[in-house]
Formats: sequence, structure tokens, C-alpha cells
Amino acid sequence: MTARCTVHFLLEDMLVEAPAGTPLEAIAEASGADITFGCKTGSCGTCRVRVASGLEHCSAPEAEERDFLAGLEAAPDQRLACQVRIHGDVAIEYLGL
Ligand code: FES
Repeated sequence: MTARCTVHFLLEDMLVEAPAGTPLEAIAEASGADITFGCKTGSCGTCRVRVASGLEHCSAPEAEERDFLAGLEAAPDQRLACQVRIHGDVAIEYLGL
């Protein structure tokens, strides 16, 4: 059986369950969480979020995402929602660009 994880979307105060390993983008879109996606390839930044808790439960960023966020001087707890898979409980705050 696949482990489950819970995503807490902080702006909506909404809890959503999903199988571990699910892309955050899929969870956000299926649940109607208010995250705007543009490119979905990690190059526009409209989906930027702050991982308020559970950063260790997020898939590690690829080089392209790391470089993009470094260019924005983003804090280490920020990720691009279109590039993250969730492997455990997390709390997410949408920031945008
Ligand atoms: S939708 Fe463009 S970076 Fe995520």
C-alpha cells in the first residue's frame, strides 16, 4: 500500500491527502488550491511557494530549479510547485513571482 501524505495549503487553511510521491502541481490542481501555474517546466516562477514545514518531505530540486530560485534570491524554504513531488506531510504557502 502506498503511504499517504497530507498537504496543508495555508492560505486556504485546506488539508488535502494524496499518495506519497504525487506532484504538488497535481494535488494543487485537483483540490482547487489557489496556486497559479504558468510554464509548468520550472522556468517562469509563477508557482513559487514557501514550504512552511516538511521541506524534508519534498523531492530534491533539480539544477534548473535551484538556479532559477537562486536568481530570485529566494529563501531556502522556497520551491517551484510545478517541480516538487510530495513524500510526506507538508505545509505550503503560495507566494507567486
Ligand atoms: S509554473 Fe512556471 S515555474 Fe512552475
